[in-house]
Amino acid sequence: MQTSILTNPVRGIITLAELSDSELAEIIRLSVQLRPIIEPGNYQTDVLKGHSVSLMFFENSTRTRMSFELAAKLLGAQVLNFTESTTSVKKGETLKDTAFTLQHMGISMSVIRHPHPGSAEEYMGYTGKPVLNGGDGAHAHPTQALLDYASVCALHPDMLPDVSGNVAVQKHIAIVGDIAHSRVARSNLLLWTRLGHQVTLVGPQTLLPQPIDQYVKEVDNQRNLVFYANNLDTILPELDYIMMLRVQLERIAEPIMPAGREYVARFGLNQKRLVLLPANALILHPGPVNRDVEVDESVYLDKRCLINMQVGYGTAVRMVCLAFLAGRLNLLKANIEQNQKTVYS
Ligand code: CP
Repeated sequence: MQTSILTNPVRGIITLAELSDSELAEIIRLSVQLRPIIEPGNYQTDVLKGHSVSLMFFENSTRTRMSFELAAKLLGAQVLNFTESTTSVKKGETLKDTAFTLQHMGISMSVIRHPHPGSAEEYMGYTGKPVLNGGDGAHAHPTQALLDYASVCALHPDMLPDVSGNVAVQKHIAIVGDIAHSRVARSNLLLWTRLGHQVTLVGPQTLLPQPIDQYVKEVDNQRNLVFYANNLDTILPELDYIMMLRVQLERIAEPIMPAGREYVARFGLNQKRLVLLPANALILHPGPVNRDVEVDESVYLDKRCLINMQVGYGTAVRMVCLAFLAGRLNLLKANIEQNQKTVYS
């Protein structure tokens, strides 16, 4: 059992390691309950009434930014949008000065995306207010991992953790592609192994953290849950889940392989490889997708593909995380129960 963030002076979700097992479980369980309620599009609460949420985006985003904005608005918060290209950062304002400026406006919590690892924690240190990490370099993207796992639980309820954070079944997921540069891979690796599942990292040697043997040993920490492989085809029939990652060309200085075509041939998920994947396995991708690189059109058409569903869970997970950090989870729970009665009665 890990230390609860409730004991920390300032609560934030910078990585999932800051959440206790029971907190992780509660966030996932509530997100799965909330998602069908917000589906009809007429959901609105005042759970975060009086709160202001600043969305601090120093790097591009579609899903994370829009779903955090929607989440905060559905909870009744005021939302302030910050886009680096249109702010005084362009005149030389530092992260520290931006944080102090927003702090003195009375912002109650922030979401930050930034290209530098560690910047979310740094920002929280300046504001002294809760911060949700929306992705900091290759370090962490905690709400992405939560929404990925919640999407799986919606279709496979036996994957739901109980209130103590234990999962009754043990499954095998492969995370495929650009592991070395991926905050999504790091956050998912942490979450899935924490819940007792087996994770195999698959990719060309150039896109795996180096030295890979040592990396696997360190993250596995003698649990015998983490492995790596360079051959996707041989591992596909063993999998319960497969997560394809975007090759992050913007973070890669050297060419990843002699030719992009070789990457697609060895690691792209396509019609031929879908046949090797078990019938009840599920396919994830955090997006955005490089179409015809990590996945081709046949993957989108496959009934095992969760890509669009993951986007839907993004809003629910982020609503729960915002309410959690505002200390208003009980209010949201009561609201969910009330709405479940309305929707299902
Ligand atoms: N998955 C993800 O973080 O997508 P965006 O970069 O569009 O937010």
